[in-house]
Amino acid sequence: MKKLIGPFTQILPLTGLPFKGAVNDEHLQIIANGGVLTEDGVIIAVDDFEKLRRNYPSAQIEEIAGDHVLLPGFVDCHTHICFAGSRAKDYAMRNSGKSYLEIAASGGGIWDSVTQTRAATEAELTHLLVQRINRHLSEGVTTIEIKSGYGLSVAEELKQLKAIHQAANKAHAYIVPTCLAAHIKPNDFNGDESEYLKYLLNDLLPKIKQHDLAGRVDIFIEQKAFNASDALFYLSKAKQMGFEATVHADQFSTGGSEVAVKARAASADHLEASGDYEIKLLANSDTVAVTLPGASLGLGMNYAPARKLLDAGACLAIASDWNPGSAPMGDLLMQASVMAATEKLSTAEVFAGLTYRAAQALKLNDRGILTKGKLADMQAYPCNDYREILYHQGKLKPAHVWTGDR
Ligand code: NIG
Ligand code: FE
Repeated sequence: MKKLIGPFTQILPLTGLPFKGAVNDEHLQIIANGGVLTEDGVIIAVDDFEKLRRNYPSAQIEEIAGDHVLLPGFVDCHTHICFAGSRAKDYAMRNSGKSYLEIAASGGGIWDSVTQTRAATEAELTHLLVQRINRHLSEGVTTIEIKSGYGLSVAEELKQLKAIHQAANKAHAYIVPTCLAAHIKPNDFNGDESEYLKYLLNDLLPKIKQHDLAGRVDIFIEQKAFNASDALFYLSKAKQMGFEATVHADQFSTGGSEVAVKARAASADHLEASGDYEIKLLANSDTVAVTLPGASLGLGMNYAPARKLLDAGACLAIASDWNPGSAPMGDLLMQASVMAATEKLSTAEVFAGLTYRAAQALKLNDRGILTKGKLADMQAYPCNDYREILYHQGKLKPAHVWTGDR
């Protein structure tokens, strides 16, 4: 059954824009008084509403009353929302002057969330996940990547990934699971970092493949996590096993983005410490540069050099990094809007980074723009001009969200 949705004051289909580099707002196509014709959750046509109504008289009409601006659903390509407990204590300590790495070195940080998450059952984690997914979905995020990484043993990582699967089955947002067992070496592992990575390669990744629990692996490359050469070994082995790679790169020190590019990872995420060398490497690669303004806000740190990355020609995506430690807020639009004001990103660059460029980081080419053949994942903001959306810095939320036929 065909369905015609509209009329919308403006539709921004985000079509005809480049995957890489800077984009001006003049390049944004705007369809005034538009409609979207869908069938089985897929877009058949995007055009003038009245024209579509005339051409498809038997289509069922979903009428949208009042001014609305329609965008593709957001794709959050980096989250850690499979966790239990809270790190409010860490946040207060950081605001009192302790650094993220100091807190981690004294047994807090990621290890604290591992302890709290291990204490939760799979059903409890599923319940928490569904709540967080639904909150994100109500804010226009129709595709959500979710990492494990607070289990850090075969059994506990499998528990996390199973909870993510359970939640994915219950939710209407589309979920992309990623194994981040290489988050840090757990305190209770008997051996060094490279032995821990071999344990993951031998004992965990084959099980994940066998049960089809995730198609991607991530690793945190940093002084208190894993070094570049161990990480490159881990990612190449994982890729040989059929996993896509992504990297937590250049958050506090450089080295990670170079590994990401060498491993032909789908994305290099964080990049707060990236300099001219890393910017050039990323810009000349197919690896998507993912900026995580929520972590900069949560840690009180600088943003990744988003403007420079775009000007150098990189594909820049924006994700929330929603996690209990560095990025507890989890409001993707608010984070992107606030960063855009400092980094001087055009509206087109922000919308591209939240939609089709973020989909590229997940290697999903069926979404992120509104055109024939793409998923009808969409969101409508109650306003009459697309510029209102970032202007309200995240306080203007979508009034309607569609998720294909999920
Ligand atoms: O992306 N940097 C490493 N991992 C997460 C933080 C996880 C945590 O603090 O619990 C991040 O910021
Ligand atoms: Fe992260």
